[in-house]
Amino acid sequence: MIKIISVVGARPNFMKIAPFIHAINRYNAINEDRIEHILVHTGQHYDDRMSKTFFESLNIPDADINLGIGSGTHAEQVGNTMIAFEQVLLEEMPDWVVVLGDVNATLACSVTAKKLKIKVCHIEAGLRSMDMDMPEEINRLVTDRLSDLLLTPDKMAVDNLVKEGVQAKNIEFVGNIMIDTLEEHREQASKIKIEDIIRENKINDTEYQDALKKEFAVVTLHRPSNVDNEKVFVALVNFLLNEVTTQMEIAWAVHPRAEKQLKAFGLWNKLISNKRTVLLHPLAYHDMLRLNMGAKLMLTDSGGLQEECTVLGTPCLTMRWNTERPVTLKEHGGLSVLVGNNIDRIRKEFEVVYNTQTQPVFPELWDGKTAERCLNAILRFEM
Ligand code: UD1
Repeated sequence: MIKIISVVGARPNFMKIAPFIHAINRYNAINEDRIEHILVHTGQHYDDRMSKTFFESLNIPDADINLGIGSGTHAEQVGNTMIAFEQVLLEEMPDWVVVLGDVNATLACSVTAKKLKIKVCHIEAGLRSMDMDMPEEINRLVTDRLSDLLLTPDKMAVDNLVKEGVQAKNIEFVGNIMIDTLEEHREQASKIKIEDIIRENKINDTEYQDALKKEFAVVTLHRPSNVDNEKVFVALVNFLLNEVTTQMEIAWAVHPRAEKQLKAFGLWNKLISNKRTVLLHPLAYHDMLRLNMGAKLMLTDSGGLQEECTVLGTPCLTMRWNTERPVTLKEHGGLSVLVGNNIDRIRKEFEVVYNTQTQPVFPELWDGKTAERCLNAILRFEM
C-alpha cells in the first residue's frame, strides 16, 4: 500500500488535480487498490463559481477533508493552512504529499509535510518568473527547495532547477498536466453555445441577443499588480472600452478581486453600461474553454490561460512584465506576448496580433498524458 495526500486550494489547482486523481483510479482498478488517496481542499477559494463548479464539471470527487481556510492576508492563509494541515498529517501520516502549482496552499502544505518528514511531490515544478514581488514566485521557490520529487511541465523548468542545485534524480520532465484536462474536455466544450454562456453568466441585465457573434476578445485580470493599483487599472479599463471595443466586442470574466477593485475605483457602472462589453461572473471550466476557442484574442494576466491559448491557437496578450511560463512566448515558438500594463505597448501588440493568423502550438509532452507520467514517477521514486 502507498498512501498519498493531494492538496488543492484555489481555482488553478482544480484542473491540475483532476487528471491526477483519474490516473490513480485507473491504476487502482488494475492493481487491487494499492494506492490510498486522500484529497484535501484548504478552502482558499470557496465560492461555488471558484470551486464547486470545477469539482462537478471535471469529475473530481468531493474533498475528503476541507480545511475551511477562506480569505485573508497571506500570513493568515498560509499560517491557518499549516496549523490545520499538520493535524491532518499527524492523523493520516501519508507516504507522500502532492502539491500543485504555486498558490498559498502549495507553500503551506509542502512546508508542513516536510517538517513531519513526509515526502513531497511538486507537480508543475521549476517555473520561475524571477519576480519576487509575485507571491506565487515565493511559493514556487520554497516549495521546490523542499520537494523530494519535482515534476516539470517543460525543459526550461528543468534547467531552472538544475541551476538552483537540485539533483537530477529528483527532477522529472513530465509535461503539462493542465493540458490533460483540456484535451479530455475540448470536444464537450466545443458543443456549448456562446449565447448560453452569456445567458447563464452575465452580470448585468442587458439583453445580449447578438453579442459575441462576430470577433471578440476575452479579458481576465486578477493580479494585484494590475487590479490593486488605481492608476494602472483605470488606464487598462479605459483602453479596453475606448479602443478595443471599436474593433471587436469584449467578453470579460470578472474575478472577485477585480470586481471589488472596479467598484472601489468607480469603474463598475461604466463597464456595466458599455454595450460592446459582456461582463460575466467567473466562468466554469468548459465555458471558458469554449470562449477561448472562439476568441480572436485573449487579454489576460493568468498563467493558465496563457498555456491554454498556446494549444488552442489563440493569440494572447499577457498583461504582465514577466512570466514563469516562457515556453508559451512567441520567442520560444508560442503565441503569447508580454505587454505588461503599459498602454502604448498593449496598443502596438494588439494591432500586430489583430492582423496575424495563428495556429495551435504544442510544446513537448503537452500531449494529454502527463498525469500518468506523474503517478509513475511517484511510484518509481526511491530516496
Ligand atoms: C489566487 C492565487 C493565484 C491564482 C488565483 C486564481 C495565491 C497567492 N494566489 O489568487 O496564484 O492565480 O488564485 O484565482 O494563492 N474571493 C472570493 N471568493 C472566493 C475566493 C476569493 O470572493 O472563492 C475574493 C476574496 O475577497 C479574496 C480575493 O478574492 O480576498 C482574493 O482571493 P485570494 O484567494 O486571496 O487570491 P486570488 O487573487 O484569487
